[in-house]
Amino acid sequence: METLPDWFRHADRLAALGEDAPFSNKLEFLHDYLHQDFPWIDRIAVALYDPQTDLLKTYAHSSKGDDPLSLYDARLSDSTTLQEIVRLRRPRVIDDLALLPASRPHSERIRGQGYGSSYTLPIFRNGDFLGLLFFNSYRKHVLDERALHHLDLVGHLVGYSLIDQLTTARTLVASVRSTSTLAQHRDFETGAHLDRMAHYARLIARAIAPRYGLDDHTVEHIFLFAPLHDIGKIGISDSILLKPGKLDAAEFETMKTHPARGVEIIDALLEHFGLAGLPHSQLLRNIALYHHEAMNGQGYPLGLKGEAIPIEARIAAVADVFDALTSKRPYKDAWSNEDTFTLLQELAGDVLDRDCVQALISQADAVRSIQERFREDPLG
Ligand code: C2E
Ligand code: SIN
Ligand code: SIN
Ligand code: FE
Ligand code: FE
Repeated sequence: METLPDWFRHADRLAALGEDAPFSNKLEFLHDYLHQDFPWIDRIAVALYDPQTDLLKTYAHSSKGDDPLSLYDARLSDSTTLQEIVRLRRPRVIDDLALLPASRPHSERIRGQGYGSSYTLPIFRNGDFLGLLFFNSYRKHVLDERALHHLDLVGHLVGYSLIDQLTTARTLVASVRSTSTLAQHRDFETGAHLDRMAHYARLIARAIAPRYGLDDHTVEHIFLFAPLHDIGKIGISDSILLKPGKLDAAEFETMKTHPARGVEIIDALLEHFGLAGLPHSQLLRNIALYHHEAMNGQGYPLGLKGEAIPIEARIAAVADVFDALTSKRPYKDAWSNEDTFTLLQELAGDVLDRDCVQALISQADAVRSIQERFREDPLG
């Protein structure tokens, strides 16, 4: 090893924060850092808040052993005590979790895991509530003022890493969306369609997550990126895109270039915004490029088969076909959910992924509430 002069004797213990690493690694890293002074901090977890749906969604955690709360969400308004944290904009200290009212399933799961105390810090960005940060210990009565000072500092570092990563992903989504609006001054996909796509994709991703090894983090990015699957359509002329009738063979060949055009646009944006290192950008590229591949290899553009099609693209495909069929398009009327589910079942295995189709169909009620929440703008 190189011998360094004495003025380099100190190694910055937080240097890893400046590296290009996924948020979950940084969280684990900060947990290890905290562990050196406070070995009784057994778990740090982040839940993100979605103001559109009032859902608090598990996002990332660092804990020794299994996490009792991943792939889980709950309405903020269903938890009076968590709501108080946000309303008062103050963190909450619980010295003995046994004394917390026993009503809510998530507090039960935390307690069932044997945690004794908890410190919950709300994260704000420019005054907007972004999510909650949970510190848990197996021990009770450990959260003294000295410890809380350190937890605040580390908590805000976690918060900034989170904001940094989310802002990057959201900037990308926003720039892709504005590109499509600006490019031709047309919105071939309505906002409501994009929102529904995102939520269907999340329903599917969450349901198959355990089987496919998707973590919360990946699910969240599939949710963010699924609506961008058709960005390549901005390169397609109106005469094809908005044609009121069936496409002829030549027109459909042109239409089939939209996945490759999509990836070109995404790559250009990643480069222009200096986001090439964005964790999960591969998810976005795969969704754009492969959402029209079919399980039997008869899809486009590459004719990939089965497992060779990335799971995020198989998820987006089911969400896309479901929403395309249940919506009115220039070339077709809207189908009922029942008829659409029947067709999806026929397509399952040959064209669409069986697990993804099953995941959507088995959540028909959740699908219905997404449709009610994100209706087409009656004026547009
Ligand atoms: P899109 O409207 O977003 O539709 C996405 C996918 O949903 C379609 O991919 C197809 O798999 C499914 N889909 C949509 N409508 C129907 C339908 O009426 N019946 C059935 N069985 N499946 C349907 P596909 O076929 O690769 O099309 C890609 C895109 O090409 C469509 O995106 C749409 O923008 C355009 N397109 C496809 N067919 C026509 C058409 O007949 N007329 C026009 N104007 N555009 C079409
Ligand atoms: C929640 O209360 O919804 C999440 C709790 C956690 O992750 O600790
Ligand atoms: C809760 O109050 O929701 C559970 C306890 C915790 O995670 O802090
Ligand atoms: Fe498409
Ligand atoms: Fe589409």
